[in-house]
Amino acid sequence: MKSLLDKIARQALFRMDSERAHNLAIMAFKSGMPLARPPQVSKRLKTIVGGMVFPNPLGMAAGFDKNAEAADGLLQLGFGFVECGTVTPLPQEGNPKPRLFRLEEDSALINRMGFNNHGIASVRKRIIDRAGKGGIVGVNIGANKDSEDRIADYEAGVRAFGDIASYLAVNISSPNTAGLRSLQDRANLSELLSRVLARRNEVAKLRRAPVPLFLKIAPDLTDAALSDIADVALDKRIDGLIVSNTTLSRTGVTSRLAHETGGLSGLPLFERSTIVLAKLRLLIGPAMPLIGVGGVDSSETALEKIRAGADLVQMYSGLIFGGTCLPGRILADMSAFAQRENLSSLRQLRDTRVDEWAARRLD
Ligand SMILES: Cc1cc2nc3c(=O)[nH]c(=O)nc-3n(C[C@H](O)[C@H](O)[C@H](O)COP(=O)(O)O)c2cc1C
Repeated sequence: MKSLLDKIARQALFRMDSERAHNLAIMAFKSGMPLARPPQVSKRLKTIVGGMVFPNPLGMAAGFDKNAEAADGLLQLGFGFVECGTVTPLPQEGNPKPRLFRLEEDSALINRMGFNNHGIASVRKRIIDRAGKGGIVGVNIGANKDSEDRIADYEAGVRAFGDIASYLAVNISSPNTAGLRSLQDRANLSELLSRVLARRNEVAKLRRAPVPLFLKIAPDLTDAALSDIADVALDKRIDGLIVSNTTLSRTGVTSRLAHETGGLSGLPLFERSTIVLAKLRLLIGPAMPLIGVGGVDSSETALEKIRAGADLVQMYSGLIFGGTCLPGRILADMSAFAQRENLSSLRQLRDTRVDEWAARRLD
């Protein structure tokens, strides 16, 4: 059940332009006002990944809190972790507006934001300011649009956040920065990971253990490209992969806004991103952590990501359509499920449907 306040807030926000509504939501989170009752979360949801103890496996995906202004407000909703960013070395305006579209009848969003963000200096300061408040807050790093050496931008991100972020996510899968996705190609990826891991190991001296480093990939990759990514990820021994970013596909979309340029997220992305997740799990083997993202909007969809191979899950669009009470509801339902099925940990569920998902056709 949605609370009345949740319903009124949703109606008011949905009458507004999408980006204004988003900015208002960030202001509300920043204000520290409670936006949902803190949920009761079972200890059975505790998940250990990359040496970090997550109170539950549901995270806020990158792109909502690009500038690390709302992390504490988001953690209060019950999220087990929050990923800020994408942050680029220099502040950036992003693409001209409008650049964010709500496809209500499809429970989907299309965005072509283009890495609008305040840059690493401001965001670093905010992450430092909240240090000591606890909670797992990762930082997703990217490259400036006009950068001459994009890999150097990722190295700068590692230097800026490697000592203070809970983890780093290297985002090479946004469809809204021309050419960025070519960093997923085998040779480019190998060079990128060698360089960022070298910087990661330099900053490791400043903390107890090296900062876990995840790679975020697109859902629009061929089987051959996925296999290359799995090989390079294993060879370089990164800490995990985030699957996936938004898609260029418009399968399952009926809205008149379907033609808008940009990445599609939400319900129509669930199937595609879950198939890619399962394929990657089979390619990469059982040891490497995977974070499943795309179309999570309920405990059923979150649990299905885990069955398809995910250790952790994230959501973004679900929060827009479901409201601030949704994370708590998902966690309550997941807790009840774990208890009913007598699972001491959701890890017991992982991969139980991986073959089924990996065999599905991508269209
Ligand atoms: C408006 C918007 C902005 C986003 N910005 C970023 C970003 O800056 N970096 C990133 O890695 N992913 C970004 N994403 C992708 C999300 O993190 C997530 O991978 C994607 O939306 C799929 O999840 P969902 O279906 O739960 O929304 C963005 C998504 C949306 C809708």
